Amino acid sequence: MQHRRRIGTVLDFGAGDGRFAAAGRFQRYTGYEVDPARWRGASLPANARLIHRCAFRSRLRAADLCIGNPPYVRNQDLPEGWRQCAARVVRERTGVELSGLANAWQYFFFLALSSTHDRGLVALVIPYEWVSRPSSKALREYIRSRGWNVTVYRLPDMTFGRVLTTASITVVDKRAREGSWAYFTPRGDVFEQTRFAAGSRAKVLEYGRAKTESPARAKRGLSPGSQKVFVLSEMQRAELGLRVGRDVLACVTSLRPLPASCATLSLATFARYYREAGRRCWLLNVSSGPSFELKAYLDSVPPKDRDTATCTSRNRWWQFTMPQAPSIFVATGFRGKGTKAVVNAIGAHAVGSVCGVHGPSLSSAAGIARKMRNAEVASKVVAHSKGLRKLEINQINSLLANLIKR
Ligand SMILES: C[S@@+](CC[C@H](N)C(=O)[O-])C[C@H]1O[C@@H](n2cnc3c(N)ncnc32)[C@H](O)[C@@H]1O
Repeated sequence: MQHRRRIGTVLDFGAGDGRFAAAGRFQRYTGYEVDPARWRGASLPANARLIHRCAFRSRLRAADLCIGNPPYVRNQDLPEGWRQCAARVVRERTGVELSGLANAWQYFFFLALSSTHDRGLVALVIPYEWVSRPSSKALREYIRSRGWNVTVYRLPDMTFGRVLTTASITVVDKRAREGSWAYFTPRGDVFEQTRFAAGSRAKVLEYGRAKTESPARAKRGLSPGSQKVFVLSEMQRAELGLRVGRDVLACVTSLRPLPASCATLSLATFARYYREAGRRCWLLNVSSGPSFELKAYLDSVPPKDRDTATCTSRNRWWQFTMPQAPSIFVATGFRGKGTKAVVNAIGAHAVGSVCGVHGPSLSSAAGIARKMRNAEVASKVVAHSKGLRKLEINQINSLLANLIKR
């Protein structure tokens, strides 16, 4: 074994059928599993046991190794009671106050770190993106502050087909305290060490913060509450008798339909790639009192379709203030060497994963969008899943600041 010659006690939180006890040499394995469908019928070696209880009720703190493949549940889907309980355990054990943005596996990661003794080892299957995403900052800072060594093996993209994320096997060695972080990427049958987390020679793109006086500021696309309800196709709009301008405004929810060479969203490109292509491209214009037709549509929306956190938090489930239209659209997800950036010549709105760049005039927007399209960013962004890379808004802000300086 690469990290330890002898392993005494092993803990596995979210153990399933205890399959991690099937191989390897250790003295005693204890798995925690809540789902009877998983632990029923498990066949374990004599030195292994499964405890049918929530992992966060464990009092064990001194395992040699904590191994696991924790559940992948997004923060929005975590039951409130569960989150509070897990957050309390993490706080009591580590002093870290996790933000509401943390996904389930982050709580399990902290639990694992605090369930091993101070020369212990943690080996978990978790999303690769933890090495760079702002939402995992508390974890990275905690590990860095202790000086533990970290080795992250990026798994081939298809390892977990169902979960749309690139997975890793992350090993934290609490005994070796050089504070080193090593990244490995699959090349054929072997793992090759790379210098930086993005799996290349370049450093991960930093996260900048746009100031109000910045000449170009990236903002997240609007989340109206449900694209199905608030963003209509041309055919839906026409059938409902909704008028452009009065009832709906042009918007883009994705730049994917546009060819890579497209530099400007003009009326003609909007018509060809969105309106006539049957895409959802009309955002409900609900800032002022709705027209008779729009009101009739809103009244016809089934309650289950508007049962989203955004809609239920509003006084009127459908009412929101229309944001300003950006000068440039930038795709936050991309597959090639760089991302798409398109000048917004028709005053359309950015929705969902399309980022809007605000500030530049129409004339300077063309130059900025061109530099953005030509920028090589793939080597500086951690892969998200199946070759897809994702830019955070503040990474786009730091890109913009660099491109404008040049
Ligand atoms: C991704 S599965 C991994 C199972 C197994 N280790 C494997 O690799 O096949 C995560 C497991 O965590 C379990 N789980 C979820 N929440 C839990 C909790 N609070 N305590 C213990 N187990 C939990 C789930 O039921 C599920 O079996």
